[in-house]
Amino acid sequence: MSVLLQFVHPVARKSRANRALLDAARAVQGVTVNDLYELYPDFHIDVAREQALLEAHAVVVFQHPFYWYSAPALLKEWQDLVLAAGFAYGPGGTRLRGKTLGSALTTGGAAEAYSPTGHNRYPIRALLAPFDQTAHLCGMRYAEPFVVHAAPRLSDAALAEEGARYADWLRALAAGAPV
Ligand SMILES: Cc1cc2nc3c(=O)[nH]c(=O)nc-3n(C[C@H](O)[C@H](O)[C@H](O)COP(=O)(O)O)c2cc1C
Repeated sequence: MSVLLQFVHPVARKSRANRALLDAARAVQGVTVNDLYELYPDFHIDVAREQALLEAHAVVVFQHPFYWYSAPALLKEWQDLVLAAGFAYGPGGTRLRGKTLGSALTTGGAAEAYSPTGHNRYPIRALLAPFDQTAHLCGMRYAEPFVVHAAPRLSDAALAEEGARYADWLRALAAGAPV
């Protein structure tokens, strides 16, 4: 199955973690990379183009750094415009049904911080509920997220390992593995 990778980083040239993941993803067969900030730096999203891309792929992945317990702002704008009534949900809105949505994130916080006793208080999976429910409303399955914690403190070698783990995760999604 083909994977549409929505890459969402407002300062990609300064990214270490997401760049490492993206480099690994580009080598995976069947992955189409769509760099949203490169395409739409002024937030003028080509809705028809984005909807056509969604229809052409069975799996959609949102890859981004975790910003304020969510995604960078352009992904929200993309959701608001592209996941339109009559396309993604509501009467006649069946075009995404049966597809899979996945989140691939890097966080500044360590894994332990994302727990009831940690300073972020909530497990990362709980904070991703809006993405999970968005997938559900659109009739999509929400895959188990791919997360790289404490990303700014990882060495280049550790990031390369995360890249290999990410490529495996993408291959499994592309192969239609259970999510
Ligand atoms: C505006 C902003 C908001 C952030 N919010 C969070 C957050 O809510 N939780 C967290 O763990 N890290 C947060 N971070 C840290 C980033 O997630 C981290 O720097 C990023 O994942 C590193 O990836 P990169 O090298 O690709 O930029 C934030 C960083 C910025 C700039």
